[in-house]
Amino acid sequence: MSRNIFYLAPLRGVTDYIFRNAFETHFGRFDYLLTPFIPTVKGIVVNPSHIKDIALEHNNPLRVIPQIIGNNADDIIMLARHLYSMGYASVNLNMGCPHPQITRKKRGSGMLPYPDFIDAILSRIYSSIKQPFSVKVRLGLESVDEFSLVIPVLNKYPIHEITIHPRTGAQMYDGTVDLDAFEKYYRCLKHTICYNGDLWSKQDFDTCRRRFDTVNRWMLGRGVTQDPFMLEELRSGVLVKRDLATVRSFHDEIFNRSRERLCGPAHLLGKMKELWAYIANLFDDPHKVLKSVQKQSSIDGYSGVVDRIFG
Ligand SMILES: Cc1cc2nc3c(=O)[nH]c(=O)nc-3n(C[C@H](O)[C@H](O)[C@H](O)COP(=O)(O)O)c2cc1C
Repeated sequence: MSRNIFYLAPLRGVTDYIFRNAFETHFGRFDYLLTPFIPTVKGIVVNPSHIKDIALEHNNPLRVIPQIIGNNADDIIMLARHLYSMGYASVNLNMGCPHPQITRKKRGSGMLPYPDFIDAILSRIYSSIKQPFSVKVRLGLESVDEFSLVIPVLNKYPIHEITIHPRTGAQMYDGTVDLDAFEKYYRCLKHTICYNGDLWSKQDFDTCRRRFDTVNRWMLGRGVTQDPFMLEELRSGVLVKRDLATVRSFHDEIFNRSRERLCGPAHLLGKMKELWAYIANLFDDPHKVLKSVQKQSSIDGYSGVVDRIFG
């Protein structure tokens, strides 16, 4: 099997361009990084709140892959064309988001029970777009059995690659990934496959790598966010020291850049608390660390607590 290729998973509210750039400065490069989803909006090329996140001054368009969420082929094509014209080499469609306010509108994993609907959209997309266009899916909305009817549809199109998170939408992030279903289904797809889901440690990675012997693409989300040293460890196969000074510097870069960008302390604190929900796990007593951060309602209070946590 050829070398492993690592992707940063999109985590909306966490992995914005500030996070992506700070991560790579401190912990090493991903091969590719997906942006959190950009919703299509009728009549508007790019939803204005997402323009900064995809601006070329903050992103390498050969490694950053903007992700679209939507279910109207014309809107998806219009947004994708705009992204390619900016210089992005590749674009991704979200067919996995589990949130009911999304799935109710037949978007994200809400598309998966409707293979004919997917067929109609992909047919339009792949007849209009010749650049690399990939999809990110779960295995169904209510049941992984739904995917058996989606596979023949996906196999009709030159999908650049398919990332599979082997849960259903109904599961949200609960329960376990269904590795048996992943194994059964990925071998039926003719495309390049990227595995995503619950890679929390090198041990999880080794288990999947051994089991899915023809897969060499791995998308890391919550695991690498809570333990950013994991990327280097998976690449090198060697245990990496968890150096908290590096984490402090990573934190400070995100804090300072976000402070310049976000309006008001409430937004900044909200964003930093979201990050701490992950990085608190690097400390001996994650629960206590997270609670002490979450209690803060002022920037001064927050900064004092962060100083104490890092010691
Ligand atoms: C807070 C949060 C936000 C997410 N936002 C997105 C998103 O914008 N687009 C997407 O495709 N998946 C999104 N996901 C799903 C992740 O990309 C990934 O598929 C999922 O977390 C499983 O991978 P992991 O176990 O490595 O985290 C999100 C997940 C979380 C927890």
